[in-house]
Amino acid sequence: MSATKNLLLLSCLLLRCGVLALSGNFWHITDLHLDHTYELTNKPERVCASSGQRPAANAGNFGHYVCDSPWHLINSSVYAMKDILPDPDFIVWTGDDTPHMPNEDLGENKVLEIISNLTHIINQVFPSTKVYSALGNHDYHPKSQLPAAPNNIYSQIAEMWQDWLEPESQVTFKKGGYYSEKLLNRTGFRMLVLNTNLYYDQNNLTQNMDDPAAQFSWADQVLTEAANNKEKVYIIGHVPPGCFEKKRSKLWFTKKFNKRYVELIQKHHSVIIGQFFGHHHTDSFRMFYISEDFPISTMFLSPGVTPWKTTLPGVEDGANNPGIRVFEYDTQTLLVKDVVTYYLNLTRANKAEARWEKEYRLTESFRVPDASPASMHQVLHRMANNRCYLQKYYEFNSVNYDLTECDSDCRIDHVCAARAVDFERYESCLAKEGAASVYGGLLPVLSVALSLVLASW
Ligand SMILES: *[C@@H]1O[C@H](CO)[C@@H](O)[C@H](O)[C@H]1NC(C)=O
Ligand SMILES: *[C@@H]1O[C@H](CO)[C@@H](O)[C@H](O)[C@H]1NC(C)=O
Ligand SMILES: *[C@@H]1O[C@H](CO)[C@@H](O)[C@H](O)[C@H]1NC(C)=O
Ligand SMILES: *[C@@H]1O[C@H](CO)[C@@H](O)[C@H](O)[C@H]1NC(C)=O
Ligand SMILES: *[C@@H]1O[C@H](CO)[C@@H](O)[C@H](O)[C@H]1NC(C)=O
Ligand SMILES: [Zn+2]
Ligand SMILES: [Zn+2]
Repeated sequence: MSATKNLLLLSCLLLRCGVLALSGNFWHITDLHLDHTYELTNKPERVCASSGQRPAANAGNFGHYVCDSPWHLINSSVYAMKDILPDPDFIVWTGDDTPHMPNEDLGENKVLEIISNLTHIINQVFPSTKVYSALGNHDYHPKSQLPAAPNNIYSQIAEMWQDWLEPESQVTFKKGGYYSEKLLNRTGFRMLVLNTNLYYDQNNLTQNMDDPAAQFSWADQVLTEAANNKEKVYIIGHVPPGCFEKKRSKLWFTKKFNKRYVELIQKHHSVIIGQFFGHHHTDSFRMFYISEDFPISTMFLSPGVTPWKTTLPGVEDGANNPGIRVFEYDTQTLLVKDVVTYYLNLTRANKAEARWEKEYRLTESFRVPDASPASMHQVLHRMANNRCYLQKYYEFNSVNYDLTECDSDCRIDHVCAARAVDFERYESCLAKEGAASVYGGLLPVLSVALSLVLASW
């Protein structure tokens, strides 16, 4: 072989490696909510405890929209991950493992057993994959009452997750349910796993505290050091700040904690490259800004595996198809390049064939170059101003479960929830968009009136 040919071969190899090394991917799964009571019987009210007596008519092996996930659905989703992308760089798992049923019917042992069952299957199917795992509000007994202090449940879970946690992470996890470590042990990259259940307004133990488990001051310190060390950071957690897009003005965090979270992101946005949360069971996202038109960060809210129809008053028909998601990212910068969501059509799975299929790829569906804050700002602009994009977003929001039209109130709820995490900014968004839609509705009337006036002149 000639020297030039060798050189050519070598440079091709290097280039290929360079290209391959630049692109990575990881799974994000959330809200699996195993319902161990799920059983096919001829009494629809008795199919699952999580339905709370709502009838589960024609329930099938893969579950029902009024129920949390039967084991069969959990198993199917984890094997679908293995089938679609068997060797991700890592897995992000953002909690909520147990069913929506009364505390009295669960208890500490059952909660721990369910978390252990899910940990086990993920470990079994992905034995050599690093998992970053955040606690959900349902991963405690009693639910949502996660303490700002050491307790038996945090300790037991730290033991269960010992393969996934560095020694230092075990220490902070046992103290407050949070941790931070280098991302895949690589210099310059960091994962921050938060226990935002401490900020949930349902958590009676933390309402009077300023900084439960000193998590804010710890995160501030970790992010300050990250900046000093020129690190890039991903943040994951369960309960997100901001409002629920399916219920107007429904904030999950207590107001003071919501404000503090927004300030944390604003202060450290230059090192925070992505935020990945769950809890909604729906597919949405949240933008963070420093000024009106200057996006600094995006929080991706991934859809849940459970199809469970929410019982939150004011939300109508709030179920979803089971969803799982791959994030494609640049391994040098951590920039999120694309988001690919896969789902199971639950109706079809029960009736005919269980096929996990691609639902959509973000860059294709919304015609953006990547999933950077600037691009997500563009996505938000498109759905706010174009009915077709709004409708597309809306159908993805419930993972193709609710295909009804997103009307003007619906538009305001979704647009303002995505645009403003800060509660005051959210309220002024409502006022502004509400006025705009009244004006928009009046516009044809006004123009007809005007032309009549002009015609009579
Ligand atoms: C889990 O899914 C795999 C792959 O589809 C299948 O081989 C296995 O039998 C399932 N196990 C259970 C308990 O459903
Ligand atoms: C969950 O774990 C318990 C206790 O280890 C075990 O008895 C049970 O069979 C497990 N359930 C599943 C579905 O794996
Ligand atoms: C992480 O990297 C350091 C050296 O950079 C090494 O000593 C340590 O064992 C690694 N840890 C893991 C879990 O691989
Ligand atoms: C939390 O506090 C509320 C209001 O006092 C009370 O109704 C509720 O039962 C409490 N929840 C728990 C789990 O202690
Ligand atoms: C899901 O499957 C059902 C039954 O086959 C079908 O009627 C429905 O259109 C499917 N939904 C979507 C979004 O493809
Ligand atoms: Zn949940
Ligand atoms: Zn939750």
